Amino acid sequence: MICKDVIRNDVSDLEKNIKSVLFTKEQIDARVFELADEISRDYKNKQLVLVGVLNGATVFLCDLMRKLLIGCEIDFISASSYGNSAYSSGKVSLEVNMKTNPKGKDVIIVEDILDRGYTLSAIKDKFKELNANSVKLAVLIEKTCDRKTEIKPDYCGFRAPDEFIVGYGLDFAERYRNLPYIGVLKPEVYS
Ligand code: IMP
Ligand code: MG
Repeated sequence: MICKDVIRNDVSDLEKNIKSVLFTKEQIDARVFELADEISRDYKNKQLVLVGVLNGATVFLCDLMRKLLIGCEIDFISASSYGNSAYSSGKVSLEVNMKTNPKGKDVIIVEDILDRGYTLSAIKDKFKELNANSVKLAVLIEKTCDRKTEIKPDYCGFRAPDEFIVGYGLDFAERYRNLPYIGVLKPEVYS
């Protein structure tokens, strides 16, 4: 038996720091279903590889792939620019150690959120170097903010305001990823 008084690590403790819910579990589920449908039509008879950006995109990728009506391969790469802060440094470090060779294949980079655009811009350049046949971008959330790059998603789940958001894979300091919905984090938690 888990004694809550000793461990104090309930999801309800995390939820106290959520200012508002932006997208419910049901809304996310319905939208991911629509994106999977669109991708299934666009990639029929292609060699699709979904490449998730660790760690944030794992939840989105796992749900998306199970709703596809076509076969696909999956792989992951690592990218980080935030550390434990809520502000991007703008310097993206990439770790590409894939089991799948993307050469000649049709890659969709799957990402949790498009913010200033540094991360997806660096990843897209990397995949061009690896000679993928095509490279497109699927993001669950596109933030309405002052974008620093030209990058635009080919598939986008939702638009969200320029606030720090967590849940459904998105973290602050590696926590909140396991919330089933997407919510705005109270500013006092990170400022
Ligand atoms: P960009 O390089 O500025 O576009 O930032 C994209 C990356 O920053 C994403 O992969 C996320 O990991 C992280 N990020 C940006 N905004 C948020 C947010 O509101 N919540 C959680 N992570 C975020
Ligand atoms: Mg990320």
